Amino acid sequence: MSSSTPMLKSPILGQVPAHVAIVMDGNGRWAQKQGLARSAGHIQGAAILEKVVEAAIDFGIKRLTLYCFSHENWKRPKEELDALMALLKSYMKEQRPVFMKNKIRLRIIGRRNELPSDVLHEIDETIRLTSANDGLTLALAINYGARQEITDAVKKIVREVSSAIQNDPNDQTKIEALEQAIDEKYISSKLYDPEAPDPDLFIRTGGEQRLSNYLLWQLSYAELWFTNVLWPDFTPETLKEGILAYQKRQRRYGGLNSTDSQKPCDCK
Ligand code: FPP
Repeated sequence: MSSSTPMLKSPILGQVPAHVAIVMDGNGRWAQKQGLARSAGHIQGAAILEKVVEAAIDFGIKRLTLYCFSHENWKRPKEELDALMALLKSYMKEQRPVFMKNKIRLRIIGRRNELPSDVLHEIDETIRLTSANDGLTLALAINYGARQEITDAVKKIVREVSSAIQNDPNDQTKIEALEQAIDEKYISSKLYDPEAPDPDLFIRTGGEQRLSNYLLWQLSYAELWFTNVLWPDFTPETLKEGILAYQKRQRRYGGLNSTDSQKPCDCK
């Protein structure tokens, strides 16, 4: 992320969420409403991304995490899956100059090794090309599921622990030291993108109010905002509406407001 403060074209007064995570729902319904195939909704959903990402930069957002393809989406018809994979591939190629112009750094989260190799190749090429950019970080969740992410993190930890105690598996002191070392920060460091800060604001379009296996660990203290707008109809104005709703929230992280009494309870 940039250390300099860029001049924003359309700044929003007040605290802007640094990290916004979006579930881009409603593509299928948008297409069906117009008598089109579901894949037309995904195409339109990808087409509006450039404007949304540029608006996020304008508003001062530092990181945008978009749910593009869930681990569960493989259950969809082959035709739709093919269309989504083709779209991801063309998006990567077409957006490279836009990413470079806007200093966007691309990241992905999800099970990479289950993606078609040609799609992964274009993604990796874009990640490599944009790696030194210091503007907005665009993280795409592709073949992503939060339960899978936590499962994969646990597997990494088990591997580390078993190699640490390989020579003396009955060494209680070593086992206790490892137990001590495993805290929330350590678990976060085993997630798909250990550098990523937790999202401040979660947005879901399309009228449904659920998390759908998205960033379950990271969203613990995010503010949630739902809109009936179908993703292909999402505009910079809708994003602004979400940010303004966020600004009305009071984030307490389980504590108290600064105006509330800070006197600790002396009850038992
Ligand atoms: C959910 O809508 C959306 C998806 C499963 C895919 C999201 C993908 C895009 C916005 C475009 C692809 C992105 C890139 C970066 C190329 P849905 O199909 O479940 O809609 P419905 O609830 O109306 O059926």
